[in-house]
Amino acid sequence: MQVIIRGSEDEVARAAADVFSSYVRAGAVLGVATGSTPVGTYRELIRRHRAGDLSFAGTQMFALDEYAGLSCDHPQSYAQTIRREFASHVDIADSDVHVPNGAAADLVQASREYEEDIDKAGGIDIQLLGVGTNGHIGFNEPGSSLNSRTRPMPLHPQTIADNARFFDSADEVPRRCITQGLGTIQRAGHLLLLATGEKKADAVARLVEGPVSASCPASVLQLHPTATVIVDDAAAAQLVHRDFYAVAADGDVPA
Ligand code: F6R
Repeated sequence: MQVIIRGSEDEVARAAADVFSSYVRAGAVLGVATGSTPVGTYRELIRRHRAGDLSFAGTQMFALDEYAGLSCDHPQSYAQTIRREFASHVDIADSDVHVPNGAAADLVQASREYEEDIDKAGGIDIQLLGVGTNGHIGFNEPGSSLNSRTRPMPLHPQTIADNARFFDSADEVPRRCITQGLGTIQRAGHLLLLATGEKKADAVARLVEGPVSASCPASVLQLHPTATVIVDDAAAAQLVHRDFYAVAADGDVPA
């Protein structure tokens, strides 16, 4: 695992965009995340696209997860969010943006179909990830099997509380979702996890330096041969070896 520590959210976004751009240029299959963390990275990628430096032609996007029970045109559905924040601003066909069907009557079948769609695309080359304050990635909450595949899952009360800011009240946050599993995520060629702000410091310390454990689902990144974690100083605050990571990462950002 490579841990890169930057001084600000903007620097995290630029470093993440550098890594992601090399995959975009190669016409890769891109795994995308929603939530607040990747928004700066998306803005930077959109800026590079508008400047004529980056084309998404030939890429496909796969979202990590989707709420269950929201129609796909609900503004807080991840299908809408990923288009609003990112995909609609770059040159990717709408049909190349894939999101699990959280509105399906049969969520198990919809999960199976999503895995098949990823396989048909040839697998995800780079998966962008945020981390929940409880250590989740995607919506793989604590206790998720490290080998899990895309499936319906309940949301943890902490996630419902954290995501209430996107809705009028916590009561409106859906209670279930479809999420890529931890085994699904680990099949991506490169995992790129971003975290900013002091609220993420505990989760970052557990995922980077804690034991690999279903109690902290993001700790599966330790098992992946090509995992990059980019954090700002606030999110790095509880890392015991942060001085070493700063030296080790110097000039060594993977393409
Ligand atoms: C979003 C997702 C979640 C978020 C995580 C952090 O698609 O899968 O795991 O990445 O909840 O959310 P933010 O970035 O809003 O703090």
